Amino acid sequence: MQTSTRSNLLLERSLAAVWHPCTQMKQHETLPLVSVARGAGCWLYDFDGRRYLDAISSWWVNLFGHCNPRINAALADQLGKLEHVLLAGFSHEPVVELSERLARAADGRLGHCFYASDGASAVEIALKMSFHFWRNTGRPRKTRFVSLAGSYHGETLGALAVTDVRLFKDTYAPLVMASSQVASPDWRLAEKGESARDYAARSAQALERHLEQHHAETAALIVEPLVQGATGMAMHDAEYLRRARAICDRYQVHLIADEIMTGFGRTGTFFAFDQAGIVPEFLCLSKGITGGYLPLSVVMTRDAVYQAFYDDDTARGFLHSHSYTGNTLACRAALATLEIFDAERVIEANREKSARISAAVRPIAQHPRVNHFRNTGMIWAFEVETQDPQFARQFHARALEQELLLRPLSNTVYFMPPYVIGEEEIELLAGRTARLLDAR
Ligand SMILES: Cc1ncc(COP(=O)(O)O)c(C=O)c1O
Repeated sequence: MQTSTRSNLLLERSLAAVWHPCTQMKQHETLPLVSVARGAGCWLYDFDGRRYLDAISSWWVNLFGHCNPRINAALADQLGKLEHVLLAGFSHEPVVELSERLARAADGRLGHCFYASDGASAVEIALKMSFHFWRNTGRPRKTRFVSLAGSYHGETLGALAVTDVRLFKDTYAPLVMASSQVASPDWRLAEKGESARDYAARSAQALERHLEQHHAETAALIVEPLVQGATGMAMHDAEYLRRARAICDRYQVHLIADEIMTGFGRTGTFFAFDQAGIVPEFLCLSKGITGGYLPLSVVMTRDAVYQAFYDDDTARGFLHSHSYTGNTLACRAALATLEIFDAERVIEANREKSARISAAVRPIAQHPRVNHFRNTGMIWAFEVETQDPQFARQFHARALEQELLLRPLSNTVYFMPPYVIGEEEIELLAGRTARLLDAR
């Protein structure tokens, strides 16, 4: 069968049988669906031999390229030993080693790992654990959560409750528990002459005012440290996290760090909260944890939280589970990912790479259609001036024609490439994006 026929047939079958995520399926009458035959490094290839530079790491999950030889080898080895075993009443080597290594990465301050599969499940777990901690310690009135304006924490009902994106939330409002939102420290909202740091400090006052009034019924504040992703890569100064930590301490409210996107080096340090020198009570991780290979998420927490559940009474325990909790293959992929971090001194190497990419994209930052160009670690974002309400879709389609996989969030274009992006690919990304901006 000719490859293009094979590709077209697969697309037809996909549109007939697969309900694609975060998609109004009717839009695929005009928007191309891309069938991917294989991946290598930063590139995805379709059946017709066309290639696409995965400049968004396949929804922010991929760190070390598609079909990474080290992760492949680790998985092949694990497949010959054990693919999965239930984690209730049983344990296995990869989950133990991964938990120990993650705890070391957090300097031993978050010593207990509870696993799930997706980011949203981790958020559900953190919310439930926080509430249950307060209940176990005699504060059952602490049932409410607070998040930042424009926050995104996932789309299951609990995670949606602390998400603040109308498009995702409004339809389901009757199903979703109430939560509160406070001002985002997003530096784009700073007044003229006000620094990102000053604005972060000013926004923290809104949190303080909220907790002053509502601390008795508030279990936790949940934040995406340094970068609020889905709302348009809104970036803030680490000062906000320092202040939020102090305010939460003052009012006995937990701090949940949702590092599902920002963890594993994305913001330039292994965890984003490291840049503020703080420690949350709960840390949610997923996405990059397996290098983009397999669904795995984890909530890490402190000994004091764990101890509040440790009891003769079963009901005081955390009776939450998913069938694939701590899946062996996923944990092994995560271990291989952490080994690459160590062996290739990735955090240090990324510092240079980030500077190199920033230099290459400077013409974009200076482009007349571009506003608020910003960068944190291995994330770059900017707003494009446009009158087109369909900008995101159009730009995505035109980028594909230029061999680029980009998915703007409204009129925000961002780059979040795998860390293995090379010199030629950086030039190609910068040059072709500039051309797309010129073309209108
Ligand atoms: C900060 C953050 N939290 C939670 C989620 C939800 O993760 P998942 O899509 O794996 O459920 C995402 C996904 O983009 C995210 O960026």
